[in-house]
Amino acid sequence: MPDGGPAVEVVGLTKRFGDVEAVRGIDFTVRPGEIFGFLGPNGAGKSTTINMLCTLLRPTSGSARVAGYDVVAERDSVRRNIGLVFQDPTLDGYLSGEQNLRFHAELYGVPRSVTGARIRQVLEMVGLWERRGDLAQTYSGGMKRRLEIARGLLHSPRVLFLDEPTVGLDPQTRASIWEYIRQLQAAEEITIFMTTHYMDEAEFCGRIAIMDSGRIVALDTPEALKAGVGKDRVRIQTADDAAAIAAIKERFDLEAVVSEGAVTFSVASGEAFVPRLFAELGVPIRSVNVARPSLDDVFMSFTGSTIRDAEASASDHMRMAMRAARR
Ligand SMILES: Nc1ncnc2c1ncn2[C@@H]1O[C@H](COP(=O)(O)OP(=O)(O)O)[C@@H](O)[C@H]1O
Ligand SMILES: [Mg+2]
Repeated sequence: MPDGGPAVEVVGLTKRFGDVEAVRGIDFTVRPGEIFGFLGPNGAGKSTTINMLCTLLRPTSGSARVAGYDVVAERDSVRRNIGLVFQDPTLDGYLSGEQNLRFHAELYGVPRSVTGARIRQVLEMVGLWERRGDLAQTYSGGMKRRLEIARGLLHSPRVLFLDEPTVGLDPQTRASIWEYIRQLQAAEEITIFMTTHYMDEAEFCGRIAIMDSGRIVALDTPEALKAGVGKDRVRIQTADDAAAIAAIKERFDLEAVVSEGAVTFSVASGEAFVPRLFAELGVPIRSVNVARPSLDDVFMSFTGSTIRDAEASASDHMRMAMRAARR
């Protein structure tokens, strides 16, 4: 990578699968050494973007450079400079942890003379050196993921791509994977590009791009994105949600929606607003909750729904499409 050049540079990137426009013209730059995250619900286009950056999918239009190389014209150079951990597991269960890495080292042409030492280094980094001789199929979910991360690092890539590195893992294991990712970024001076649909994980990233329906709707540090919302979120349980929403509109001129089972709206200085709400709403309130802006609110302010609601409606669409296809 030319010194000081971006680790990833994307301009007008799009990908179409037939009628589906999975990625609709995105632009962004990732600096060397950054932990950069793509946050968005299932179906947003995160994996499609990663697959184009890793040269596994050809862009429909636009361009991307990774470690200084063009993902279409310089595929081999891109591949030599990246590590990739796929969304779905790809270990060979019948090989030991160490054998999985040896196989990968050969694929990537890591010189024999350094393979042994490098395998030890990466296995120690993810805490698996003691278990190196055990078959991968005997590892827990978190250990398998750590082994895949070690494998992605083996050939000393400049940029490591992690597609949903913690999906399906329990919260404690997710936290430990994150600990490894952070140590790794400090130790190896590499750029990390990862995707997630967990809001709390996006907080670990230096900057995040929020993706929805193939577009980047916001890109900044988590702090700046939250500060940009500028309002608190108020959630109330009421006896009559429809009446409450109408009253909130009429009395306070605020737009409320039902989200995850509660009437939800944003307002500046939420705590000061609550007494007025009780005094003037005219609809019985059972409970109230006021929260500072979270990344959920950022997502909501840009897309009009929470990431979980977005996923729920995406799976509704899918069910309807499948039902239609079966007819
Ligand atoms: N190989 C493919 N063929 C057809 N459609 C695809 C293919 N891969 C992804 N898609 C569609 O593109 C959209 C984005 O998918 P994806 O990039 O996997 O999203 P994410 O990783 O954010 O969940 C979805 O609508 C998905 O169904
Ligand atoms: Mg995905």
